[in-house]
Amino acid sequence: MLSINNVTKTFGGVVALNKCATTVKQNEIVAFVGPNGAGKTTLFDTISGLIKPDYGNITLSIDDNTEELTKISPEKVANLGISRTFQQVRLFPNLTIQDHFIIAQSKNDMRLLAQIVAKNHMHEKDVPFHKKILEQYGIDRDLNLYVSDLSYGQQKLLQIAMAVMREHKIIMLDEPVAGVNAVVQKKIEDILISLKKAGETIMLVEHDMEFVRNIADRVVVMDEGSVMVDGTPEEALSDSQVLEAYLGE
Ligand SMILES: Nc1ncnc2c1ncn2[C@@H]1O[C@H](COP(=O)(O)OP(=O)(O)OP(=O)(O)O)[C@@H](O)[C@H]1O
Ligand SMILES: [Mg+2]
Repeated sequence: MLSINNVTKTFGGVVALNKCATTVKQNEIVAFVGPNGAGKTTLFDTISGLIKPDYGNITLSIDDNTEELTKISPEKVANLGISRTFQQVRLFPNLTIQDHFIIAQSKNDMRLLAQIVAKNHMHEKDVPFHKKILEQYGIDRDLNLYVSDLSYGQQKLLQIAMAVMREHKIIMLDEPVAGVNAVVQKKIEDILISLKKAGETIMLVEHDMEFVRNIADRVVVMDEGSVMVDGTPEEALSDSQVLEAYLGE
């Protein structure tokens, strides 16, 4: 479905991606792991169209149609069906939970829409649906609450909910459980497992190997911008040399 072909990206003297290559199949949960600076976020940014590679390309194939993501704008990539969350929480503190759901359901540019939503209160619409999502994600808060009043864990859950709500073919999550407590981590684990059962294709970056072992079908170990190991969690994470060299375990 997604094919990453020898992607190289340098920032000044830093080689962030170095002939990085792998593929993602439909209905797989693929975890990208590796030390800080391995190039995981740069890879997600390149798939999203935010960064253009120096060499190589990334293609998305759906049915008989293949698009080269590395040639098009981030907006076009998003509209082709790559939905993602960012490593740092990116929400609009002065907007409510429901405003964020409205933004997620729209195909328009996020920032522009945030301004519109802030001006005209587009509420009322879709209230039952939005309440159901809050329930599904275990966010026990009011739809009209400003997101600045949410806990960090609830903000992480909201970001995942938004990525899933957006029309998509693939969901990419950059460190979905970083910094959350054990309860929220378990919640996110259950959500991802149920998404997989519903047929979703998920790519994620994560440092927590227990979380990765619990949910991933495949693990891609990266270091210095390249893929070092690519296999099932058993294959990739049972090798003590791999764990020591790349994952500090
Ligand atoms: N915009 C940028 N300008 C300059 N260097 C960058 C930029 N983005 C990333 N880098 C560098 O590229 C390398 C890969 O960074 P990247 O953020 O992709 O790593 P990562 O695997 O996501 O790490 P972490 O686990 O810490 O999030 C690092 O050396 C980083 O400093
Ligand atoms: Mg990162």
